[in-house]
Amino acid sequence: MIIMPGRKNSMSMKGVKTMSTHSRNRILYAILCCGGIAMTAALTNDTPSFAQEEDAVVRELEKSIAGKEQEPAEKVFKNIKIMRGIPAGRVLRIMERGFAPALGVGCEYCHVEGKWASDSLDTKQVARKMWTMVGTINKDLKTIRADATVNCTTCHRGAPKPEAKR
Ligand code: HEC
Ligand code: HEC
Repeated sequence: MIIMPGRKNSMSMKGVKTMSTHSRNRILYAILCCGGIAMTAALTNDTPSFAQEEDAVVRELEKSIAGKEQEPAEKVFKNIKIMRGIPAGRVLRIMERGFAPALGVGCEYCHVEGKWASDSLDTKQVARKMWTMVGTINKDLKTIRADATVNCTTCHRGAPKPEAKR
């Protein structure tokens, strides 16, 4: 048990607890903390959040392929190598709800802003190889457990570089 300064004064003659310095500090602390949280919330409400901006980007891309969502991605986009045959609308969903959250990153981690077809970022090229690797693992896995699968999240769990060392 830790002895708190002011503890001795916390009992009055009638046995009613009066406020010790310690608990007074605690309350003050709580007020300061709440203030901080409220302030942060106010700040993040003023500027559009990262997720909101990304959402707008994806909605814009969806508009640009309107009516072609079900066509194979390679017919709709300019530089499709691994997702050939996958409907264009689904490719966007894989980007938004698969790749980005699995690695805990935004689109710009693999793409140059506004130049979606460009392969200039190494991360985009690594992602292609990862996709192929996941396909290989899943083929192997089926022979071990018929209904088991892995995906990007299995390893990455929201981080671009999963930690292997233990
Ligand atoms: C982890 C890397 C990664 C992230 C994050 C990512 N992408 Fe991609 N993206 C790729 C890869 C790889 C391809 C190419 C797929 C292929 O070759 O079949 C691609 C292709 C695309 C294409 C097709 C471009 C073309 O014309 O060929 C679009 C559009 C796109 N991504 C949008 C997005 C958006 C929007 C986000 C964010 C929500 C995003 N991507 C996040 C890796 C990523
Ligand atoms: C079997 C585990 C595993 C799976 C599944 C996996 N990855 Fe990876 N990934 C790794 C490891 C390990 C690294 C290397 C991390 C490092 O460099 O320290 C990595 C690195 C990457 C990088 C490079 C990160 C950087 O900044 O250098 C990208 C991009 C990536 N993975 C994308 C993906 C995508 C997209 C998927 C799903 C299609 C995927 N990965 C699935 C294990 C995995």
